Amino acid sequence: MNFELKTLGLDGVAADKSDALIVLVPQDLKAGRDGLGQLIGQAAKSGDFEAKPGRILSLYRTPGAGAVRTVLAGVGEGGPRHVRQAVGAAVASVKSAGVKRITVVFAGAAPAPGVAAAVQALADASYVYTTTKTKAEPRALARAVIGVPDAAAVRTAFAEAVAAVAGIEFAKEWANRPANHATPALLAQAAKSLARFARVKVEVLGPREVERLGMGAFAAVAQGSEEPLRFIVLRYDGAARAEAPVVLVGKGITFDTGGISIKPAAEMDEMKFDMGGAAGVLGTFRALAELQPRLNVVGLIPATENMPDGRAVKPGDVVTSLSGQTIEILNTDAEGRLVLSDALTYAERFKPRAVIDIATLTGACVIALGNVRSGLFSPDDALADALLAAGEAAQDPAWRLPLDDDYAEGLKSNFADVANVAGRAGGSITAAKFLQRFAAAYPWAHLDIAGTAWRGGAAKGSTGRPVGLLLRYLLDQVGTAAPAAAAKAPARKAPARAGSRVRPGR
Ligand code: BES
Ligand code: MN
Ligand code: ZN
Repeated sequence: MNFELKTLGLDGVAADKSDALIVLVPQDLKAGRDGLGQLIGQAAKSGDFEAKPGRILSLYRTPGAGAVRTVLAGVGEGGPRHVRQAVGAAVASVKSAGVKRITVVFAGAAPAPGVAAAVQALADASYVYTTTKTKAEPRALARAVIGVPDAAAVRTAFAEAVAAVAGIEFAKEWANRPANHATPALLAQAAKSLARFARVKVEVLGPREVERLGMGAFAAVAQGSEEPLRFIVLRYDGAARAEAPVVLVGKGITFDTGGISIKPAAEMDEMKFDMGGAAGVLGTFRALAELQPRLNVVGLIPATENMPDGRAVKPGDVVTSLSGQTIEILNTDAEGRLVLSDALTYAERFKPRAVIDIATLTGACVIALGNVRSGLFSPDDALADALLAAGEAAQDPAWRLPLDDDYAEGLKSNFADVANVAGRAGGSITAAKFLQRFAAAYPWAHLDIAGTAWRGGAAKGSTGRPVGLLLRYLLDQVGTAAPAAAAKAPARKAPARAGSRVRPGR
């Protein structure tokens, strides 16, 4: 979708030739003297329209508006949540009319978060997945103009919101694709397609390179699948080489059957979304490519299916991770933490200022936080606070959960250094405690997006979360001092040559 920001108020909409005009009306609006302003005043007086969030009034061939359809949409006090709600309701009300060009005008003030929320809501309301449908109507809404009292004042927020939308839609596309249309190899191709943008480089490792590196935990998950694994390394080099990067690690299970510890059949199709963390990393890179900010970011995606097979890893098998720690795989359905553990160790070589992993990791997180907030885990208060703040600002919120060492008790194993599961209690936390063992060398945070990355039921589909949170966090880091991270553990020796080509097959 094409977005345009304009200085435009109610007095200017008579000349606006879009298919539909959405007027965002705050509760405290002083009725103006222009035609639309007077009309809003009358509608309020008569009780036909209240500017409460979510309330709308649809009008046709309104004097004072150039568009055929006008929708008054209440935004209450004008906060971003209510702007989002208002735009969503208004777009839904004109959607069936085949609206191609829409104008959204702020009748009152247009603060930056409100403008961002309007852009986001327009994109959300008009998104359609089409890739594997032969008769799907493509997205009708092609152009949106955002009218504000002073365009210059919100130019940056607008550009960031448009970039976030590009990232979110890239994430949605890849997460929504069925697993046979989003294999590890296809995910790697999607990553490679981002290398067409300035400052983005992509390198892809295949099964033999992963084996040679010693990623025994990642390889163990992949060994039951006919689809060869990929380890995807993205770089966004926006700052000086000496500046330590932020590393994003995305769980890329393109389909999670559970493996030999197989899942029940009901809703198993939704496990195509188990690469939501990977999609989040790809989407964030798509947004960075758009904005070109001055910072360095690395993206790591261990991508594989988790399948049952004659060669699949079995409960009780012990594998050696890249860190050297041995892991007893008591449940093959706790595969996300296995692929992440090797990626987290791999992250050490970048001497990162921070590492954030993003994963649809536990059903327990869905029970704890539902689909509103992502689970956030970090032993680092500053990093946790920065991520929480970014989530609030981007309307992509998270909630911090604890990491007391007592939670790690259940991960003890009689046959390896650590087991990959503890009991049922505190399942999201024990999963995070497992990951923490592999993330000791740098400031680390873990986002469990099992409840937020997609919706089930009639509106089944990817949400594109947490691209908004991650992008906001990264943009907030621009210009903050980033001395080369003092690694707590000695940085690992780089391999003679990290492979740069994909070797097909295994
Ligand atoms: N991908 C799942 C987590 C998941 C389940 C996300 C349902 C969203 C909805 C993950 O790989 C998994 O299977 N986790 C297990 C862990 C358990 C075996 C300790 C889970 O949550 O049941
Ligand atoms: Mn699983
Ligand atoms: Zn999984």
